[in-house]
Amino acid sequence: MKVLVIGGGGREHALAWRLAQAARVSRVYVAPGNGGTASDERYDCIDITEPAALREWAIKEKIALTVVGPEAPLAAGVVDEFRAHGLRIFGPTQAAAQLESSKAFSKAFMKRHKIPTAEYEAFTDAAAAHAYIDAKGAPIVVKADGLAAGKGVVVAMTAQEAHEAVDFMLVDNKFGNPLGIQHNEGGARVVIEEFLQGEEASFIVLCDGKNVTALATSQDHKRLLDNDEGPNTGGMGAYSPAPVVTAEVHARAMREIILPTIRGMEKDGIPFTGFLYAGLMIDATGHPKTLEFNCRMGDPETQPIMMRLKSDLFEVFWHATDGTLDQVELQWDRRVALGVVMAAHGYPLSPRKGDRITGIPAEAPDAVVFHAGTTLDNGELKTSGGRVLCVTVLADSVKQAQQRAYEVAARVSFDGAQYRKDIGFRAVHARNPHGS
Ligand code: AMP
Ligand code: GLY
Repeated sequence: MKVLVIGGGGREHALAWRLAQAARVSRVYVAPGNGGTASDERYDCIDITEPAALREWAIKEKIALTVVGPEAPLAAGVVDEFRAHGLRIFGPTQAAAQLESSKAFSKAFMKRHKIPTAEYEAFTDAAAAHAYIDAKGAPIVVKADGLAAGKGVVVAMTAQEAHEAVDFMLVDNKFGNPLGIQHNEGGARVVIEEFLQGEEASFIVLCDGKNVTALATSQDHKRLLDNDEGPNTGGMGAYSPAPVVTAEVHARAMREIILPTIRGMEKDGIPFTGFLYAGLMIDATGHPKTLEFNCRMGDPETQPIMMRLKSDLFEVFWHATDGTLDQVELQWDRRVALGVVMAAHGYPLSPRKGDRITGIPAEAPDAVVFHAGTTLDNGELKTSGGRVLCVTVLADSVKQAQQRAYEVAARVSFDGAQYRKDIGFRAVHARNPHGS
């Protein structure tokens, strides 16, 4: 059977890679894909992105199953479009995708259904936002509503920073929108919330509208530089499992966050199908709170998670789109998977494109270099985006995985390549190195 993966990042390369190994899959199409999928005969790249055009193509090609990687096509309603024409697609509808595409929607949802999250207020009026900051004091967090590709969150350590963030998002933004934020109806809006302390983890589950199956746990590294310094990025590396998610934290996250969310969406008349990704902040007592919801897999979390997945991914998606996820028990490699992102010169502010990439080693059972911002230019592999590659390995311990990943990364080169040297450092120092 033919499958289609929508997207062109490292996450989609990893999903396509796992799907290509499934027993019933004859061909994997990626739209639009990247230099990695274009140069590999296991995949065909399709240069279509618009939902209706994709749907038309999928009908013509008799695509049996489609999986959506990024949030933008979900927020644009690609799932509704495919379903309206009887096509099988895994992902949330446009209405359900609001859990990610609107912070105001997801915060109100969590309040209504008593899902633990930071205390907050939403504002469209700058004066009221400033008064709230004065009343609450710093540290405090200011978030732009709408999809902002990770650029819309300011963790303000001083009240002044918070005031400036409000002016930037609400006042200046009316004149030119420098952040490129896609505003929801009603124009610019900010959410101001309580600063949470603790350790972050990515808690990702599959949902079929009613049933939920948790994926292996993982942890991302959002800052550009070692030791969690420098600017926020889309993610500089990830590993699985995340020791901070002990069996007890796992049970709490399912009971207090994931299940009430799925039940709440059902109750509100917008059942959630697809990947649900809760960004958790876990405090020193093991109490998880929701930092945010994403309605898709994480990138780069997908790369190590797919390395560890032993189950047939096509059959998993088939059940997920049939509403029979309760019949699925996922099998995981017991080893640690760890992925190091190699980013372009100038990332995250102004990534340079067009640098020639050399030295990508052949795929090995314990090491895969997943592509993201790469392109094939007359047969030559070149950088074409911020996060270029994710070197992902499997090993018996986090330490060994680090060592192996950096060995593989050292063979790859392109001008201006930047990568962190400490991916997985929290797990190396963790008391319970196994996690869930
Ligand atoms: P978000 O896009 O909401 O995930 O926020 C991006 C990053 O900002 C998160 O991964 C956290 O590191 C940080 N962050 C967001 N909200 C909070 C909060 N309430 N308290 C502390 N840090 C936060
Ligand atoms: N790795 C963070 C994200 O995908 O949002």
